[in-house]
Amino acid sequence: MDSVNIRGGIALQGQVGIQGSKNAVLPVLAATLLAEGTSVIQNCPRLADVYHMQTLLKSLGCSVTREKDRLKVNTDGMNGPRALSRDIPKEAVESMRSSIVLLGALVNRTGEVELAYPGGCVIGERPIDIHIEALKQLHVTFEEKSYGLHACTEGLKGAEIRLPFPSVGATENVLLAAAGADGTTILRGAAREPEIEVLCGFLNACGADITGGGSSTILIRGKRKLRGAEFAVPGDRIVAGTYLCACLAAGGEVLLTEAPAKQMGAVKKVVKAMGALWQETDRGLYIQRGEPLRSPGRLETAPYPGFPTDMQSLFLPVLALAEGSCLVEERIFENRFHIVPELRRMGAKIKQTDPKTVVTEGTKQLHGARVRARELRGGAALVIAGAAARGETIVDGCGYIERGYENICRDMRELGVRIYGV
Ligand code: UD1
Repeated sequence: MDSVNIRGGIALQGQVGIQGSKNAVLPVLAATLLAEGTSVIQNCPRLADVYHMQTLLKSLGCSVTREKDRLKVNTDGMNGPRALSRDIPKEAVESMRSSIVLLGALVNRTGEVELAYPGGCVIGERPIDIHIEALKQLHVTFEEKSYGLHACTEGLKGAEIRLPFPSVGATENVLLAAAGADGTTILRGAAREPEIEVLCGFLNACGADITGGGSSTILIRGKRKLRGAEFAVPGDRIVAGTYLCACLAAGGEVLLTEAPAKQMGAVKKVVKAMGALWQETDRGLYIQRGEPLRSPGRLETAPYPGFPTDMQSLFLPVLALAEGSCLVEERIFENRFHIVPELRRMGAKIKQTDPKTVVTEGTKQLHGARVRARELRGGAALVIAGAAARGETIVDGCGYIERGYENICRDMRELGVRIYGV
């Protein structure tokens, strides 16, 4: 799908099931490398990044099969004691940021790994210094090579580690490596994102001994023998947030089944401050836009449980339609306002004061335009804007959106949006 075409301006009405979480499933798939036998991952979304991870697992000798939403990974055929760059397709590593978690998993499983640098993206530099410093403390040594990184260990050893920033990826890498280390690792300053709890849950289901996942101190007792397990991935909190934002921007009411509402506390606060109805029911998360939609005044991204950086882009078209102004501060990534000029072309009043700050001024109506996605969540935000805007919107560059959404057009149609992909 290159582009989507939307005829917007109609209030949403309907219900949609939320796909499994992308950011949770990718580290879980990397973790299957640590377990003997077969792991079965339920509710595994069909996404480009998941396909890339499947390619990577297969290149390492795993057998990977899918039955509906269940992905089975069997590691019995894994290649030799080293995981070499020539076996690991560079394009798949470079095409997604999440390939970095293979570092911790492979150094644990094989003791030596050659890996291309993972892909960055337009939202920011995304360095990996925190990952490397933390793994060094577990007795991993690194060398920079022409193909990327060479990492090896004579034997992983538990350590007391403090992260200087609660990096999600670095926390995942420490968990994946420390699970195979001699002795106990105490990780302080860990990321508290729900995806960390999910990864700890999977590793424990395989036989690991990890406590404190989801808090800032995690205790990992290493060297347990891990066996494949059956495990269900929760719904995707950012995808649920996307359809919620579409409802706030276009008006109407939606029921989001399988939405992980308990993981969405910071978003709930903003939704309520804007005057919309948020109801957690037995059937799912019910959202109804109130009239008028009020600006929350200020929005600032932060590590979990703060307001998620991924939701910042998705809220921009909503804030552009809310009464009053809003100061939006991006504190995680240095370059996450690429869609501002595109939203302006649709009539949004957004002023950028510096690379990390914008101010939105509510307007009554957006109008359709031809706009271009440059990254995943910014692309989804343009679809939200299109659903709310009067007239026709064409969003180009939709390959980015497919990295995180199984089928955004199908889901939006369930909610009554007139949208199709071309
Ligand atoms: C980040 C988000 C995560 C989101 C994911 C996908 C945070 C804290 N993390 O995770 O919630 O699901 O993107 O969009 O909101 N950094 C370094 N050195 C490192 C690692 C990170 O300087 O070695 C910096 C990054 O440049 C960035 C910040 O720390 O500014 C957050 O990084 P991190 O949490 O590692 O990013 P992701 O794991 O991609």
